[in-house]
Amino acid sequence: MSFTFQDFPAARNDLRADVLAGLAANPKAIPPKYFYDESGCRLFEAICAQPEYALCRTEQTLMAARLPDIATAIGEVDCLVEPGAGDCIKVRLLLDALHPTHLTVIDIAGGPLAAAAQAVSRDYPKLAVTALAMDFLSDLEAAAPWLPAGRRLVYYPGSSIGNFPPDAATALLARFRQLAGAAGQLLIGFDLKKDPQQLHAAYNDAAGITAAFNLNLLARLNRELGADFDLAGFRHYAFYNPVEGRIEMHLVSLAEQDVTVAGERFHFALGETLHTEHSYKFRCDEFGILASRAGWHLAGEWQQDGFAVQLYDSR
Ligand code: AVJ
Repeated sequence: MSFTFQDFPAARNDLRADVLAGLAANPKAIPPKYFYDESGCRLFEAICAQPEYALCRTEQTLMAARLPDIATAIGEVDCLVEPGAGDCIKVRLLLDALHPTHLTVIDIAGGPLAAAAQAVSRDYPKLAVTALAMDFLSDLEAAAPWLPAGRRLVYYPGSSIGNFPPDAATALLARFRQLAGAAGQLLIGFDLKKDPQQLHAAYNDAAGITAAFNLNLLARLNRELGADFDLAGFRHYAFYNPVEGRIEMHLVSLAEQDVTVAGERFHFALGETLHTEHSYKFRCDEFGILASRAGWHLAGEWQQDGFAVQLYDSR
């Protein structure tokens, strides 16, 4: 049994700098990765339990039902790599099916990642587990020395790729290709285009959990940057934009107001938006074009109830 934890403080996200830059921009925007503080993670789990939000459940069902087929298509794997692994729950299914010798998990939230990866290491005594605390968006290259030689599979589930506009998604897929190496593979899950009313409902759940998740971003800035956002002064507003093929999430100012963040003042006009997330939806062929631009070759595809998982080869 082996467990390695490696912290890359220089390659971590910089909440303060990113937020100050985002609030100075027009339109105002904050990257969605900052949703996931402790309460943000809890709220996201609660979203996944809402009847309107089927994404996570559907992916789990698909993966469980098609696992033998998916594992056969993948073949031999020495090292499984998961960027943004979080609680390291999803990857266990693949560990059971593929029996790699190494697992490398990467996440910006180092504390929770270390605990989750150590739990995996305990449950899989023959597996060599490496946990890297870094923002894989800013410093994937720093992970290179921690990737064992051999056949590597990068796993990127949950439609996280949907947070990135097409060009950024292609750039990220190209970096995953570097991470996977010459004979590498990519297994990726993404949400499909579907009835816009169904998409709308998924981001406007009746219990208001998505609204709370969105507003928690302001609460986080109040907590961590000494900001003074009045949460009642902003409205969660999410809609499907069929021209761009994405859900857009906003926090719209209900009044003209000034907010202080990390000692700097920002003005919100009445109706001005703080954009917090894009969640792109794809058709399988559309996603294939993004991936092929990044150099990947399609090797398998599984679909269920508006969700897809695709397997790619590096060559
Ligand atoms: C985790 C990025 C896939 O876009 O559906 C859920 C995040 N935002 N509800 C998504 C989210 C609002 C989620 N991803």
